[in-house]
Amino acid sequence: MKYYYTKILTVSAVILSILLIVLGIILGQFFHLFGKNVDATIQQTYWVYLLFTLVLVFVVMMFVMTKILQQYVQPFDHFTGVVHQLARGNYLVRAHNEDSKINHQLTNSINQVAQKLQGNSALRAMEQERLNTLVSSIGSSLLMFGRQGAVNLVNRVFEETFQRNGEELMGKTFKDIGLPSDIEKEIETIFLTEEVRTFQSQVVLTEGVCHLDVYGAPVIGENGNWLGIVIIMHDITELVHLEQIRKDFVANVSHELKTPVTSIKGFSEMLLDGAVEDPVIRRDFLEIMYKESNRLQLLIEDLLRLSSMERGSFEITRKPVDVMEVVEQSIKIVQKKVQEKEMRIDLHMPEQLIILADHDRLVQVMVNLLNNAIAYSQEKTIVTVSVEEIDEYVEISVRDQGIGIMPSELPRLFERFYRVDRARSRESGGTGLGLAIVKHIAEAHHGTVTVDSEVGVGTVFRIQLPTHEQL
Ligand SMILES: Nc1ncnc2c1ncn2[C@@H]1O[C@H](COP(=O)(O)OP(=O)(O)OP(=O)(O)O)[C@@H](O)[C@H]1O
Ligand SMILES: [Mg+2]
Repeated sequence: MKYYYTKILTVSAVILSILLIVLGIILGQFFHLFGKNVDATIQQTYWVYLLFTLVLVFVVMMFVMTKILQQYVQPFDHFTGVVHQLARGNYLVRAHNEDSKINHQLTNSINQVAQKLQGNSALRAMEQERLNTLVSSIGSSLLMFGRQGAVNLVNRVFEETFQRNGEELMGKTFKDIGLPSDIEKEIETIFLTEEVRTFQSQVVLTEGVCHLDVYGAPVIGENGNWLGIVIIMHDITELVHLEQIRKDFVANVSHELKTPVTSIKGFSEMLLDGAVEDPVIRRDFLEIMYKESNRLQLLIEDLLRLSSMERGSFEITRKPVDVMEVVEQSIKIVQKKVQEKEMRIDLHMPEQLIILADHDRLVQVMVNLLNNAIAYSQEKTIVTVSVEEIDEYVEISVRDQGIGIMPSELPRLFERFYRVDRARSRESGGTGLGLAIVKHIAEAHHGTVTVDSEVGVGTVFRIQLPTHEQL
């Protein structure tokens, strides 16, 4: 940059020219004093000498001027250029002029400022990047509003949850970005009261209702000045769902426990009130009480079994097990019920099939499935048990010709206490935990359980267990 240097040089040249021209004119006035009859050629020679002298003075003066300007003004042009660059944000620029002591000091000072600015700017960029990473990787939706209520920060989770483009929301007020009305109201309250607020809200999205735990707080700057507010929304849909399951479970357990207890209490009261005197009634009532207490015991055992499975303390001991032996033992256990209903169990299986599994748990699975097949079928029907090896799995299926299950009921069938026909299941003495236990045991063996059914035709449950499971 040669800003001052060129300017001063041009101005000096102009001033010097004017001065020399004036000097020339003044000196020219003295020529006639040398005598009237001075030869014109001599006068001409004087003029030539005068002009030559003036031009020479001009050239010498300009040369000296250039040297002086180069020494004192040019460095300032360089420093000005460097400072201009720094002001524009180019912190990499440096001064290089160390001709004199003053220049040396100035160069050092400017370079130190530039270095500091460069360091600060790198630090700011790093902090900005950290903040951006933090804001975008935070697991909750985050929104920040400035003092006027306009959006000035939106993170990725918010964009994904609300399916909105953050860029488009920038600068819009909290009332124009389509937040649920209760959240808008709470934001307004935070703006008015400048106090922290936490509340729960719901948003209807394309994939369903999303439950949110919202935290809103004013943002206070370092000097205590108010910068706006921040809103953090945490998705608690899963938690709300689990809480609902827990509530349902408690309600179901209470109900299931209450029924037999009420019955036992009622009949024992009647016995105490005098029914005990009649031997026939006494026997009837005691039989009912015995049946109900059995049901209660069964329910408590099932509940304990299920809770130990869900707590993770449930361990299966895998040993080589012959699937045929498991099936045969299970059939023996349910044989009495089969005979009572004059039913028949058909078997289709290879001679021997060894897998690594927990023998007793497998028997439990088979007994549960066979009991269901018997309980939910008419008399004189056939239950078919088949075992076959498919790829790396052994598939055990239990097919009945019973009442069947409606397709809409199938997805909830393996839930605890879920029963298609409550009255009928209770009549058959069931607790509604059988299939939940089956599923847990199958999964503990890294296997699966599936069901196919047609109302009025029958149902088939299939258990698939891996054959090459390691010990
Ligand atoms: N083979 C089947 N045919 C028709 N419905 C069935 C069959 N197996 C199960 N179900 C339905 O699924 C429900 C849940 O079965 P699950 O075995 O879990 O409970 P349960 O039989 O009622 O009681 P338990 O816990 O004593 O077995 C049953 O109540 C019944 O409505
Ligand atoms: Mg059952």
